[in-house]
Amino acid sequence: RNLKWQMECRSDIYRLNAQFLSIYESLIPPEEEKAKQKQLLTLLEKLVCKEWPEARLYLYGSCANSFGVSKSDIDVCLAIGDADINKSEVLLKLADILQSDNLQNVQALTRARVPIVKLMDPVTGISCDICINNLLAVVNTKLLRDYAGIDVRLRQLAFIVKHWAKSRGVNETYQGTLSSYAYVLMCIHFLQQRKPAILPCLQGMRATYSVTVDDKKCAFFDQVENLCDFGNRNRETIAQLVWGFFNYWAYGHDYTSSVISVRTGSVISKLEKDWTRRVGNDRHLICIEDPFETSHDLGRVVDKFSIKVLREEFERAADIMHFAPNPCVKLFEPY
Ligand code: GTP
Ligand code: MG
Repeated sequence: RNLKWQMECRSDIYRLNAQFLSIYESLIPPEEEKAKQKQLLTLLEKLVCKEWPEARLYLYGSCANSFGVSKSDIDVCLAIGDADINKSEVLLKLADILQSDNLQNVQALTRARVPIVKLMDPVTGISCDICINNLLAVVNTKLLRDYAGIDVRLRQLAFIVKHWAKSRGVNETYQGTLSSYAYVLMCIHFLQQRKPAILPCLQGMRATYSVTVDDKKCAFFDQVENLCDFGNRNRETIAQLVWGFFNYWAYGHDYTSSVISVRTGSVISKLEKDWTRRVGNDRHLICIEDPFETSHDLGRVVDKFSIKVLREEFERAADIMHFAPNPCVKLFEPY
C-alpha cells in the first residue's frame, strides 16, 4: 500500500516531505532555551541543597527526552534517598522554600496522582513541575532519549505527531486522550515494526545500562552511538512515515486483542497481560505497555467516549494523508 500511495495518490511526495521537515524544524527549541533551563535547575539545586544536602535533582520528561518543543514547561524530579519520607510534607516544605526565594505561582498539589510543586521562575520565564522520588520517569526519559539518538526520523515523526495531537485536542489525559509520553512510545513501536526496521529493541539487546528502581529492573543497551546506521536499509522519509503511522492506528491496529510493547519490540496479546476486560477504571480500549512498569497500560485513561474520538482522529489524519491536496495545513487545523 505504501508504494501504491506514492505512485498514485501522492505524486507530490517531495513537496510533502519538505513541508513536514520545515514544520519539524520550526518546532525544535532554540539553544538559548536549554541554557535557561540549566540556569533554573542550578537555582533550584542551590535552594534544595540547603534543606536536603543529600538530595539530587534530575530533569525528566520532554525537556530531557529530546521530544520537547519550544517553550515547554520543564519537569524536575527531586530524589531524596529515603524511601519512607512523607511526600506531602516534603512538597509543602519545598513550596515554602521556593516561595521565599521569589519564585512565582508556587503551588503544592499534594493530592494529584503524581504529587508535585508547580512554580514559575520570573527570571527565565520558565514554568516547572517538581515531583519527589519518581525515578522511573527519569529512567524512561533516558530510554526515549537513547532511542532518539539512533535515527533522526523518530524525532521528526514524534514532533509531527505531538503537534497534531495538541492541535486536534487529543493530548489531554484528563479528558481521556493520550499523554505525550504515550504518543512517543507509539512512534517508537511503529518504527520498530517497519520492514526493514528503523529502530531496534534496546531492551532486547545486551544490557549496557542497568538500574533497579522501585524493585523493577530497568536494563537496556544504551551505547546508541554504535547504532547510528541501524535504520539505513530503510529509506522511508518523514511523509511516508506520517502516513504509515496514522494508517496503522486508523486501519492496521487490532484494538480488540493487541497491546503494543516497546519492551519486546513487537505486538503482544491482551490475553497474555490479562487486559481483556475493565478492571476498576482501567478499560484497556487501546493498550500501550509501559516499557518498565509492565503492568501499566498508558491507554488506561481512555474511556468508551474518548476511544471513539481518538479513532476518528486517526482516520481523519490517515485520510488527509491519502487524499487531501494540502495535508500539512489540513492535518493541524484546530478542532
Ligand atoms: P510535553 O510536556 O507534552 O511536551 O511532554 P512530556 O514528554 O513532558 O510528557 P508528559 O508531560 O506527559 O510526561 C512527562 C514524563 O513523565 C514522561 O516523559 C515520562 O517520563 C513520565 N510519565 C508520564 N506519564 C507517565 C505514566 O503514565 N507512567 C510513567 N511511568 N511515566 C510517565
Ligand atoms: Mg512535560
